Amino acid sequence: MELNRRTIMAGAAAAGLAAATVGGGSAHAASGRSGGGRGPVRTPFGRLADGTRVDSWALQNGGTRMRVLSYGGIVQSLEIPDRRGRYANVSLGFDGLEQYVSSSPYFGALIGRYGNRIDRGRFTLDGRTHQLSVNDGENSLHGGEKGFDKRVWDVEPFTRGSDVGLHLRLTSPDGEMGYPGTLRVKVTYTLTRDGDWRVDYEARTDRATVVNLTSHVYWNLAGESSGTVLDHELTIDASRFTPVDAGLIPTGERARVAATPFDFRRGKPIGRDIRSAHQQVLYGQGFDHNWVLDKGITARPQHAATLRDPSSGRTLRIATNEPGLQFYSGNFLDGTLVGTGGRVYRQGDGLCLETQHFPDSPNQPSFPSTVLRPGEVYRTTTVHAFGV
Ligand code: BGC
Repeated sequence: MELNRRTIMAGAAAAGLAAATVGGGSAHAASGRSGGGRGPVRTPFGRLADGTRVDSWALQNGGTRMRVLSYGGIVQSLEIPDRRGRYANVSLGFDGLEQYVSSSPYFGALIGRYGNRIDRGRFTLDGRTHQLSVNDGENSLHGGEKGFDKRVWDVEPFTRGSDVGLHLRLTSPDGEMGYPGTLRVKVTYTLTRDGDWRVDYEARTDRATVVNLTSHVYWNLAGESSGTVLDHELTIDASRFTPVDAGLIPTGERARVAATPFDFRRGKPIGRDIRSAHQQVLYGQGFDHNWVLDKGITARPQHAATLRDPSSGRTLRIATNEPGLQFYSGNFLDGTLVGTGGRVYRQGDGLCLETQHFPDSPNQPSFPSTVLRPGEVYRTTTVHAFGV
């Protein structure tokens, strides 16, 4: 589908996004010649309290349009058409930088160094115990108090063949948030000619450490601010999940999903069992668990989950080479945040599908290892394919 710059602006305005001078002599504007690719085009988004500039990058390809912030690598909006060609922003977010800084539950952000929880923020590696920054009761969540979601990334745009995208880089110093090793991270966002959003993660360290990077987009395929996702149908290719304790730390078990609310193998509406009195649903206040993907760790991304909104017909298919998928049904959205569309987000108004290694792996010897050593390269890929 051929789109022009004006279309991006109209879409952005319709979605109530921050005004942006798309085009207008901005640096790095590249003319997409194939696959309908445009951009990436940079516009200023705001400044942090210390004066650091934050940019917004607009890119589009194959009928998908997105805006990415240098702050947190945040996907501020992602627009795709429904079955009648009408666009909607299907990712929860905010209008302004201040809300992202002060009160974001990781909307759209890159997560690191460690996706999900580490028990009491502590782990032992090669005989040495490390105390991490603790920010979720007594546990460490999503990298600690100032994770990669709150860092300003170095952004380099590219166009390559029919692809358009961004390289996002940052260096996390040795000891940051308690993690050992200087970690050099590169995440590449690519919009393909088919409109798929591909995320490639890469990291290197100079000391043994643990790494588990992911993306925290909240999806609502009917459009953000359109209500809950309880009618969305979800399929997860997983026969087991990792049950948690009351603090949402895995017990170490890999329980069968059969005959539980956690069985999404044949696909079902998210709302069907979300009010089940199953102990695990109570702990999560809904779904907030890691599914053990049947395919396991794979050399190439393989299908993990499909999300479908019957009302708009929009679908999202996720493929990854990771062994786990955290399905979080937006349980802690509590009506206190005003989203991009100017409306309040309430419980279940968006859901996250975070491809990952399992939570608390550094303390769980039976889980696939998240250890990264000098000389090794951490590489994982997740592909989000949109359709109707
Ligand atoms: C976690 C939730 C957490 C949320 C933060 C999810 O990835 O699984 O437990 O509350 O992130 O918004």
